[in-house]
Amino acid sequence: MDGNVDVKRGERVVRPPPSPGEGSRLGDWETAYARYREDPEGFWAAVAGELEWFRPWDRVREWRHPYARWFVNGALNITHNCLDRHASGDHRNKVALIWRGEEEGDEQVLTYRQLHREVMRFANALKNLGVGKGDTVCIYMPLVPEQIVAMLACARIGAVHSIVFGGFGASALHARIRDAKAKIIVTADVGYRRGKRVALKTIVDEAVVNAPSVERIIVLRRTRPELELYSELEVDYEECMAAADAFCPPEVMDAEDPLFILYTSGTTGTPKGIVHTCGGYMVGAYYTSQYVFDMRENDVYWCTADPGWITGHSYIVYGPLAAGATVLITETVPDHPDPGVWWRIIEDFGVTIFYTAPTAIRMFMKFGEEWPKRSSLDSLRLIGSVGEPLNPEAFEWYYRVIGGSACPVLDTWWQTETGMHMITTLAGEPMKPGFAGRPIPGVAADVVDREGNPVQPGVGGLLVITEPWPAMMRAVHNNDERYRQYWTTVNGYYTAGDLAVKDEDGYIMVLGRADDIIIVAGHNLGTAEVESALVSHEAVAEAAVIGIPDALKGQAVKAFVILRLGHAPSEKLKSDLVYHVRMSIGPIAMPSAIEFVESLPKTRSGKIMRRVLKAQEMGIDPGDISTLEE
Ligand code: PRX
Repeated sequence: MDGNVDVKRGERVVRPPPSPGEGSRLGDWETAYARYREDPEGFWAAVAGELEWFRPWDRVREWRHPYARWFVNGALNITHNCLDRHASGDHRNKVALIWRGEEEGDEQVLTYRQLHREVMRFANALKNLGVGKGDTVCIYMPLVPEQIVAMLACARIGAVHSIVFGGFGASALHARIRDAKAKIIVTADVGYRRGKRVALKTIVDEAVVNAPSVERIIVLRRTRPELELYSELEVDYEECMAAADAFCPPEVMDAEDPLFILYTSGTTGTPKGIVHTCGGYMVGAYYTSQYVFDMRENDVYWCTADPGWITGHSYIVYGPLAAGATVLITETVPDHPDPGVWWRIIEDFGVTIFYTAPTAIRMFMKFGEEWPKRSSLDSLRLIGSVGEPLNPEAFEWYYRVIGGSACPVLDTWWQTETGMHMITTLAGEPMKPGFAGRPIPGVAADVVDREGNPVQPGVGGLLVITEPWPAMMRAVHNNDERYRQYWTTVNGYYTAGDLAVKDEDGYIMVLGRADDIIIVAGHNLGTAEVESALVSHEAVAEAAVIGIPDALKGQAVKAFVILRLGHAPSEKLKSDLVYHVRMSIGPIAMPSAIEFVESLPKTRSGKIMRRVLKAQEMGIDPGDISTLEE
């Protein structure tokens, strides 16, 4: 056992030696949290004051449950804080972005000055195509610098971006384009994955059929000979850039103007467009990047997510750039060409802060310690995790093998809807494997029963946020009722939809979702979304989907399928159905098992009782089945 491990109340507590450069600059959690509780608005005003505003706010917060406004009447542009602020001072030549392609040596580096210029130019390119404040731009790209340039260019001119992860299939992309009424789509001919090309443009071609809002498609052409563009709808990325002016002033945005829409799976078939606004989101993403990740001048920061997820929005792009960090991004996957690639990247670039997902950690555990041991990981000083519970075994491995028993492990709990980190264990604080930690200063969270009463330590309950916070979502696009539900289900608190348990010290262990969301390899999937993809296949009459435990992915999708008359079960049909789901939603939604059944357990009102299927599958008690039809 490590010398710095002690055992408290029967649990393991890990006390890391202070990371090189002491603990978090917030100070110890108790003091910082008390400072927040004494004066929540003063606390957030001080954070916001570290950024530059075109016009100061009149009031820090206006709370008319469940609608919040933060930094009321303040004016800003987030790209001014992410770019101009650094590019105009002595940070102009600091590296903002390092991109590493799939091949070793395939690299691009952009300083703050260079990134600033690229963004301004692309902002003008968008303007030239008629994009203005309030228009929606859909970005469907691989993980290349241009993806980030496109995002920031939208923010520069006040256009709302809606990024769709490049792993999504045509029908998922189509639904998001239509719901957001995207005017422009920015895409690329291909992405690279495991040495193979993924043809993104082909998927866009299919997705824009019957999407009347789309006026133009901007295509970044990476392959040679260049992909042909076949209609005047389609324009070349480089050509638009070449034709655009170099200077683009930042649009003056109200703090409550929308910054982006990002879709997340819902419990119904349609994804929810989560809307974030400029001011509060900027403050939340900056604060947590700066103080939770404890960003320092010489850090090389690497978050392995894709900007297509909220993790990428907040912790690849907006937060770290607002904090003036050097951000590494890469198109590589963790196991290609071999499972040592990420560790070589850490050694090669001297990465100091590393942020990844439990599913990746578990995959590395499976490959074995020899892979990370081949590289020097001594540059690391802080390592983080997000997306699903970091189970104690994975924590131990991550702490010991990757962190060299010397780095704080930050298991960060948050959501697309929260916009920023909410619960974690700050650097320097005792860590408890399996527990995300306590709410960060600035956040009020609790575990409660259905009536909203706090539960006793050790008793399971619902995870809620009891006070508004700056980076909270402001709306669900076109669905106010769904927005209100978040704040009206349990005693007026924000209900996260997660089950959790607290200990005597207030540490929170997140157990998983309380609803019909399955988290596969850290990605949210609504059961209804997968079911409707299955039912859209001609052989399927009805389908029910559940999450089953998976050692690597946390959960995997299992589907129960009733066939239409005239279709017989077969292995061929199973693989057809898997392929069908892959093409409609994307590889993450592919069922790992399909079972053909004659009937599905339902309530009298006709709702599928997935928990009964799940109980059968796992051989456990299904609980109350009094509403079951038969
Ligand atoms: O169930 C929780 C889980 O991921 C959900 C949010 O998913 P999404 O909006 O896609 O955002 C993921 C990245 C922020 C949560 O409701 N989750 C996220 N982080 C953790 C987690 N579960 C346990 N521990 C975490 N650290």
